[in-house]
Amino acid sequence: MKEQLEQIRLQALTAMDEAKDAAELDALRVRFLGKKGELTAVLKQMGKLSAEERPIMGQAANAVRAALEEKLEQRKTELQAAALEAQLKAEKLDVTIPGTPVATGYKHPMTKALDEATDIFVSMGFTIVEGPEVELADYNFTKLNTEEGHPARDRSDTFYITEDDSVLLRTQTSPMQIRVMEQMKPPIRIIAPGRVFRKDEVDATHSPMFHQIEGLVVDEGITMGDLKGTLEMLVKKLYGEDSVIRLRPHHFPFTEPSCEVDIQCFKCHGEGCSTCKGEGWIELLGAGMVHPKVLRNCGVDPDEYSGFAFGFGLERLAMGRFKISDLRLIFENDIRFLEQF
Ligand code: PHE
Repeated sequence: MKEQLEQIRLQALTAMDEAKDAAELDALRVRFLGKKGELTAVLKQMGKLSAEERPIMGQAANAVRAALEEKLEQRKTELQAAALEAQLKAEKLDVTIPGTPVATGYKHPMTKALDEATDIFVSMGFTIVEGPEVELADYNFTKLNTEEGHPARDRSDTFYITEDDSVLLRTQTSPMQIRVMEQMKPPIRIIAPGRVFRKDEVDATHSPMFHQIEGLVVDEGITMGDLKGTLEMLVKKLYGEDSVIRLRPHHFPFTEPSCEVDIQCFKCHGEGCSTCKGEGWIELLGAGMVHPKVLRNCGVDPDEYSGFAFGFGLERLAMGRFKISDLRLIFENDIRFLEQF
C-alpha cells in the first residue's frame, strides 16, 4: 500500500508539472484527489489494515494528499501567470504603427478664390454684404437705369419667376448697389459676393449659374482714379506685384463713364499666347462711375456724392488663379479634381 501511495505521489506530481493549462490541471485534480480518484481508492482499502498499520498509512496518505494539494495550488498560480503573460503579449499595442488616415475635406477652389478676394477687400476697409438670389426686376434692372424694353431684360437671357416678369433670378450682383444705397448713408465701401443666373448653355466658359463679386464705393470726391487704384491693388495682390491692368471704354446702363478692365496675360506678358487667345490681355471685369440717375434712384445726391462700382466673375478669377481650363470642372464635384487644391 505504501508503494501504491508513493506511485500515486510521483505520477501525480509529474503529471501536474507537465499540465499545460487550467483545464488539464483540474482533470488531474479529479483523477487523483476526486471522490472516485486514485488516492481515495487507496484510502478505501484502509479498513483491511491492522490497527497498528492504519494510523501509519493514514499519515502517509495525508502527507501525499497535502503534497498534491500544494502542487496543485502552485501550478495553478503558475499557469494563471503564464496565461496572463500570453494575453498581454497578444494584445500588445504598437503605438509606433502609423494610424489609419482620416480623410479630411478640402476647401473648394471657388471658396479659396472667394476667401482670397474678400481678404484683400477687407484689408482695404470694405464690408461684405449679401443679398437675395431671387430678386425684383426693379432692383436687378429698373433702378439700375435698365428700363423696360432694354435687351438685357429679354426673356431669352433671364430666368423670370413670375408671369409678369417682376421677380427673377438675379442676372448680376449689381442690384446689391441699390439695396445697399437704400439702407446706408455714404461713406459706403462694400463688396457683395453671390450667385447670379443667366440663360446660357453650358460649355467650357459658360454656365447658367455662376458667381460674381460686386463692389461699391460712394463718398465725397470719389473719382475714376480711386477705381483704378483699388482694382490695381486687387490684381497685384491676387496675381503678383508685376501685374498690369488696362481700362477699356465700355457701356453699362448704370455707370457713366463705364469701362472693362483687362489684365495683361500673366503667361505671355502681352505677347499673345493660347491662354489669352493671342490677345495679350484677359478681360477681368466691368466697372465704372455710378450713374447719377442710379444715385438719385436711391436718394443719394449726385451733386454731393460720387461713387464707383465694379463687378467680376469669381469663376474666371478662380480659373486664372488655379490654372483651371474648363469651367465645368468647378461644378462637377469630382474628388480627383477637388483634391488638387
Ligand atoms: N453687372 C455687370 C455685369 O454683370 C458688371 C458691372 C458691375 C459693371 C458694376 C459696372 C459696374 O456685367
